[in-house]
Amino acid sequence: MILVTNNEGTPGVGETARRLARGEPALDAIEAGIRLVESDESIRTVGRGGWANLLGEVELDAAVMDGGSLRTGAVGALKGFLHPVSVARQVLERLPHELLVGDGAARFAREIGAEQAELLVPRAAEAWRQWFEHEVSAPDRARWPDVALSDYCRHAIDPEIGRDTTVFLAIDKSGNVASSTSTSGWAWKYPGRLGDSPIIGAGSYADSRYGACACTGAGEMAIRCGTARSVVLYMKQGASVTDAVMEAVNDMRHLKSGLISRVTIHAIDTKGGHKVAAVNGDGTQHYWHWSVGFDAPVALPAQPVTAHPGYATTPGSDRYTRG
Ligand code: GLY
Repeated sequence: MILVTNNEGTPGVGETARRLARGEPALDAIEAGIRLVESDESIRTVGRGGWANLLGEVELDAAVMDGGSLRTGAVGALKGFLHPVSVARQVLERLPHELLVGDGAARFAREIGAEQAELLVPRAAEAWRQWFEHEVSAPDRARWPDVALSDYCRHAIDPEIGRDTTVFLAIDKSGNVASSTSTSGWAWKYPGRLGDSPIIGAGSYADSRYGACACTGAGEMAIRCGTARSVVLYMKQGASVTDAVMEAVNDMRHLKSGLISRVTIHAIDTKGGHKVAAVNGDGTQHYWHWSVGFDAPVALPAQPVTAHPGYATTPGSDRYTRG
């Protein structure tokens, strides 16, 4: 079985399904699928073609988790490499660590011969330039980048609200469960900002005894709630996959300050069940589902759930409050 974000998973879901149908391990199948998403420039929130940070640089986050061993590998704020998911996979395979960030992650990527690439494509560079020209004050433009960036990230509106990280969850023929994520994160983020995607337990988690979960959208919310681990833990405690996801939605309802925006929670159990809830969603969020015997993956709508009634669903409504 596979559960994948729609749109951001589209270039890779077929490949993952073919590999799973051939009997490949779940982790190999989802890594192969995500690599196709990372190289597809039309996916503007993942890999090459992703959005830049406040300084106009693309920083990528990715993670993998093997639910049999509970081994993980993740990279954060990685610059200059085409396939962060494969660098994350090699963290799992080669290191006694679970997460590398920034310069250390880039050093490791070079060491293993990971493919280097210019990640900022002309479309994204032009979008950043437009942001810079219109949103940055003239004195700050003159001194750039030696300026305080914090106000700019507090007031920046992500142009891709409603677009997402790519997340893949899968169970293979042996019953092994795996999860993986990859993203460029929010546009115009503060340099070095990690979202939930490289944070195991927040943006993804897999345990072959119970199931797996992964989130897209505002990573700050999933980090604060420890959403992915919570969903799997609720299943361990006996909740159905639907109840586990809805309990995680309840956890998000307690967030009253900080960045409040959209999060989509994707989860599978080991019995073939799945649930996808779009927290503060507007009804447009979809996902891909595939199981053995399907001719092809099918796109299904996520259940929109209002967690913050004051949250309007139009771009620009995302709000940040101190607290
Ligand atoms: N969920 C991806 C991010 O917040 O960066």
